[in-house]
Amino acid sequence: MDFRGKAIGVRSPVLHPFLHPFLNFVLCLSAYVVPLGAEAAVPGKVQAPVVAYASGDLVRLARKETLQFNKEPFLAAPKGQEFTVFKHEPGKGVVYLAFVQKEGGMIAVTLPEDALELVAPDGWMYLLRGAQAFRDQRFEDAGKLLANAGQDAGYKALATAILARVEALTAAGRQVLQVEADATLKGAPEAYAARLAAVQGRFLEWVGGGRELAADLSNRGYSSLALAVDEGIDKLSARVCAKKDAAAAPVVVPASRLAREEMAAKVRQAAFAVVRCRQAMAVRRMVEAKSYIEEGLGAEPARPELKTMQKKVLAEIADAEDRYNAALSNQKRNLPQALLALERGLKTCADLPQLQKLREELSGALEEKTAPPVTPVFLSTAKTATPVATLEEGRRLYMTRCTQCHDLEMLDSRSAGAWKTEVSGMARRAKIDEAQQNVIVQYLAAAQVVAAQAPARKSE
Ligand code: HEC
Repeated sequence: MDFRGKAIGVRSPVLHPFLHPFLNFVLCLSAYVVPLGAEAAVPGKVQAPVVAYASGDLVRLARKETLQFNKEPFLAAPKGQEFTVFKHEPGKGVVYLAFVQKEGGMIAVTLPEDALELVAPDGWMYLLRGAQAFRDQRFEDAGKLLANAGQDAGYKALATAILARVEALTAAGRQVLQVEADATLKGAPEAYAARLAAVQGRFLEWVGGGRELAADLSNRGYSSLALAVDEGIDKLSARVCAKKDAAAAPVVVPASRLAREEMAAKVRQAAFAVVRCRQAMAVRRMVEAKSYIEEGLGAEPARPELKTMQKKVLAEIADAEDRYNAALSNQKRNLPQALLALERGLKTCADLPQLQKLREELSGALEEKTAPPVTPVFLSTAKTATPVATLEEGRRLYMTRCTQCHDLEMLDSRSAGAWKTEVSGMARRAKIDEAQQNVIVQYLAAAQVVAAQAPARKSE
């Protein structure tokens, strides 16, 4: 199934004002929130199978579905497409999901909650969430998440290095606060000053080490980790080194070694690229996906999600190019073969320019194979008892109601019986009643006979 005009950004629903805070949330953090652990089932007790998703969770479609925007069909989404959860109240039936549009706007679309499943976090997600937990001063979460990341061989070294620094920093900071709060030391000002200077010195050394770690992460292309660690250090130092005594000399904290503003912009850009690329891939717009990958890797060269998607996208484009070459070489000799290759190519990569151009060129032949017009030749070929008016109405309905979300399939792709099943299966989506379904099915049955007889060669 090709998704031509209906891919991302073609329709432009108004931007939901309530989404602005969320826009920042997703873009800055590429936020992955720790999934809620599934409740253990109690044997013998009937439990509603409702999973609660947290804002920021990554979920995947477990079946093909239609996204709704303002309660209207918005976009056909295939099984496997991933989304970021915006809001979910279990039991309400739908999950609100963040959807980035081409122009960069973000809208909330809905999907039935039973159509979604949680995407299990991988090592990288744990690593990023762990660094972000440290940034947000949730030290216990940070420790757990980074330890989880360390279980993944691919991220073990990175996770261990970050965890060690972050734990040392937190411990050193805690020590400063403990000394400051120690009532017994307050009675001996000299001892207190010496003890405080010692623990502060150690904390500042670890801050210096943390700044170095952030710079190192940045040099290795992990800007999102670098930024989260560096921001976490700012917050921690502000608490630990706050002046509690007017007479005390201000503590000088080692400064950040990152070009912070520029880096924040790049991290935002990379996170945006991840979301957009995921969407473009799901609707088979691989050329568009490739451009997001390039943009994202330009901003954050080591971003793992982008590198993983890059492999897949390049392979799919190469595959579509092969189909294009096959279609081209078959165009004169064997038109049905060429059309098949064209269709397969567009299914793999709907926005490969040369395939789109070829579809344009072969559109007449394609129509004969997908929805031939009801002409005298049609009628004499089909030899059907169905009245002309019914056939014409069937074609009209088929061409208008069944193209809202995707292209038409080849008539010979399935039997007449299978077409009937397909039409009734799509009826809810296409908003057609039983009588209209029958009319379409009658047209399809006749059209299938006609398509099978269509000239096998290009007429010119
Ligand atoms: C509101 C959107 C929408 C409308 C309208 C719609 N479809 Fe679909 N259709 C989908 C989605 C979503 C899929 C699944 C795509 C996928 O998983 O690749 C699909 C898939 C299909 C497939 C391929 C099934 C397969 O398993 O290969 C056929 C055939 C099809 N639709 C026929 C129709 C017909 C006939 C109509 C009109 C009666 C229609 N569609 C109207 C959304 C729609």
